[in-house]
Amino acid sequence: MISADLVVLANRLPVDQVTEADGSTTWRTSPGGLVAALEPVIREQRGAWIGWPGNADADIDPFMLNGMQLVPITLTACEVEEFYEGFSNASLWPLYHDLVAKPEFHREWWDAYVRVNRRFAERAAMIASEGATVWVHDYQLQLVPQMLREMRPDLRIGFFLHIPFPPAELFQQLPWRRQILEGLLGADLVGFQLSGAAANFVRLVRQRVGHRTQRDMVHLPDGRAVRAAAFPISIDTAGFTELAASPPVAARATEIRRMLGHPAKIFLGIDRLDYTKGIYPRLRAFAELITDGHLSTEDAVFVQVATPSRERVEQYRLLRDEVDRLVGRINGDLGRIGRPAISYLHSSYPREEMAALYRVADVMVVTPFTDGMNLVAKEYVACRLDDDGALVLSEFAGAAQELRQAWQVNPYDIDGIKAALLDAYHADPKEITRRMRAMRRTVREKDVDAWAARFLDELMGRPAPRP
Ligand code: G6P
Repeated sequence: MISADLVVLANRLPVDQVTEADGSTTWRTSPGGLVAALEPVIREQRGAWIGWPGNADADIDPFMLNGMQLVPITLTACEVEEFYEGFSNASLWPLYHDLVAKPEFHREWWDAYVRVNRRFAERAAMIASEGATVWVHDYQLQLVPQMLREMRPDLRIGFFLHIPFPPAELFQQLPWRRQILEGLLGADLVGFQLSGAAANFVRLVRQRVGHRTQRDMVHLPDGRAVRAAAFPISIDTAGFTELAASPPVAARATEIRRMLGHPAKIFLGIDRLDYTKGIYPRLRAFAELITDGHLSTEDAVFVQVATPSRERVEQYRLLRDEVDRLVGRINGDLGRIGRPAISYLHSSYPREEMAALYRVADVMVVTPFTDGMNLVAKEYVACRLDDDGALVLSEFAGAAQELRQAWQVNPYDIDGIKAALLDAYHADPKEITRRMRAMRRTVREKDVDAWAARFLDELMGRPAPRP
């Protein structure tokens, strides 16, 4: 029987299943920053990670990996549809991202969300040791804090939301708004990417639940106090820098430039294929610069990597068709033999390939309509070992608050994106270095380890729960 002093809950387990040469399957920790930060803490603290392995009806026993106890949660095919694709990614995701797509609300989806959240909470209640610390992650699990507190009042519970938290005007559309707020209030500490999101939450709690609030504190009638504050997440900076500096990655970067035909400058976008990422306006802006005669396919190429994501959700299918059509049209109109305007890759790549792409990109283009943080922007900065490379960054990405020296753009303003791309393209190398050096200092000082330590220190420092 597992007993853990630190329990992490996230919708996904931090592992991927890999098939060996002999056909057997094993697990490998996935390359995400969250696991890089939490693995050492989990190992030290006899910790466990509860999550979904990523496929339907997989009934897997808990197992150990790299000193972490991994506890898989089973979702039926129907729950994958209603809890994951439905309520999490077709109701909450668009609602929390500024209605970039229209959220759908269905009562069966909500019922599945409650049921799956309860399953996660029950599992945590079973394995957490007396007085343990529990850290719940992201929008898929917002009811867990309250459910868990009811089952185990001895636990210290933290929650962190990785995506934006919407203003009251949008949040209140949610038919189950009160339940979500109360779910989150089960935590002792509720963390957000930005202070504006924490303020949205506190204001909603005051207006909709009627609790007394004071700055970043919510005072509950039973005497408990909940703190809501910003903890901007970051990346494994040292890991990325080291990878970018490795000889195979350097060689691969040179090879990529050669394969692209040695254009004067390479523009790069790397995103999950998601409608919040603003892939469409950035490609249009780039294409118009060619049409207008400001750039030519001899001078510039745009490499766009779009990682497949949530492919069974309708809005994601529509987006894929839209991007396919746009890329086809741009290349058909503007490309020449061996010189496409856009090199489009609908695929996911290992970290090494990403690092090579970051190294080779002269202008990195990150234009989400809204984004909790956007780690791609920080990864690019971490990989620019020579303090060069220009970052064009949406004002509406959380990262824009820290990466102030980027060329910041409004992703809804195509002319503004065009101007920024051109400015970055022609920028004086000294100017580029001045900006990149400052941004590199930021990501070096504030990495994902510092983020996790700050959150956990703050959580441990909260008053001990009453027995
Ligand atoms: C965002 C969310 C994560 C999620 C990830 C990938 O970063 O904040 O919670 O895991 O996207 O999405 P997926 O649906 O594949 O888990």
